[in-house]
Amino acid sequence: MNLTAEERHMLDGQRGPVLAKALDYLVQFGEAFGAERFVDVIYAHYPAEMSIYRGNVEDAVEYAGTGARVCIPTTSSTLACDLDQWDKLGCPRALYDLQAQVVDAHRRMGVLGTYTCTPQWLGFVPPKGSHIISVESSAIVYFNSVLGARTNRGGIFTRYSAVTGKYPLMGYLLDAGRRGTHLFKLHLTPDDLKHESDYSALGFHVGALVGSEVPVLDGLPRSTPTQLLALSAALATSGSVTLFHAPGNTAEADSVEQAFAGASPKATYTVTRKDLQAAYDKLTTVGAGETIDFVTLGCPHATLEQLRHVADWFAAQGKRVHADVRLWVCTNRMTRQAGQWEGIVPRIEAAGGFVVSDCCPVESHMRISTCHEHGLPTPQIRAMVTDSTKMARYVGDLIGCKTALRNRDDCLRAAVDGRA
Ligand code: F3S
Repeated sequence: MNLTAEERHMLDGQRGPVLAKALDYLVQFGEAFGAERFVDVIYAHYPAEMSIYRGNVEDAVEYAGTGARVCIPTTSSTLACDLDQWDKLGCPRALYDLQAQVVDAHRRMGVLGTYTCTPQWLGFVPPKGSHIISVESSAIVYFNSVLGARTNRGGIFTRYSAVTGKYPLMGYLLDAGRRGTHLFKLHLTPDDLKHESDYSALGFHVGALVGSEVPVLDGLPRSTPTQLLALSAALATSGSVTLFHAPGNTAEADSVEQAFAGASPKATYTVTRKDLQAAYDKLTTVGAGETIDFVTLGCPHATLEQLRHVADWFAAQGKRVHADVRLWVCTNRMTRQAGQWEGIVPRIEAAGGFVVSDCCPVESHMRISTCHEHGLPTPQIRAMVTDSTKMARYVGDLIGCKTALRNRDDCLRAAVDGRA
């Protein structure tokens, strides 16, 4: 790679061994993928370093011990427990203690303790065309597609970029990596896309067909940020999409032609309501009317407005969560605080729900492997209803529960009735 004088100084150790080693990793990484130079990154969304992986904790603590500090605004992704309510939610003390070590390590490094998969809801909105580095697949797709910032899937290299402020110019940072590859013609009515769960089903269908390439959605009606995030999260669940284009909604292509930049689609598909229904059916293993014991909303982490909707729904119905059901509405800790201040969180709690921050069911003590390690019974959940294909897909395998995919209000109805 061609290095600037500043980068050469860093690599030579003139700014200390920590930066030299971090940049050396990035040079090796860039050279392996044919990058010619570095770019400056302006923001990082940092790995979760969850306590359900003991090795992650040891590594995070050891790295902070080297004196490494981030040099750009750096938010942090989801942990494995709610730092304020861990005991109330059934998390063992040992897991919380491990997680607290990571929090301390992050503070020493200057990483902001946002602990969320939706840093964009907290105002971390990098401008179009900026280079950033991020973990968390739903956020990555949203940053790239909806905001038009440029990031690859950061993985472990996020750490080295956050401390050096550099990333090799390659992959989705290059124009060539951002061209559409597959065309999806949406034959959907506004009724077909009324709920965020419909967007999630759409993303799940498209992601499964396109794998790791760049889908272009033709005919997506003007959508809200939360709908586009539901779509983003699902695209990265059934597939490993990093970027999509939907003219009229996303940042870079005003037309389908622009999205393909002169190339022809490798394949063209038509999407109808039937395809969305197939995603609902695939992720629903709970029988109609069967009893359930868990409902999850807030995957990805909810906005204040979404929390308000839940509180208003309970107020309008005048009902409470069924005695045999746990309702988790997941969000980040800052939004939870805002919801507390607004009186929204107390209203959800008064109806029997939990407003959970820092984690979510799939990133928690309820994973089967974690239960085994900490002597907890399994499965922790028998049957979950959720409005997120990502949650439904992962808890089936990781928690070992049955699932039902429903829209948000039907999820709330299930929480009250105790049935899907
Ligand atoms: Fe976030 Fe957990 Fe869903 S980390 S995207 S709420 S699976």
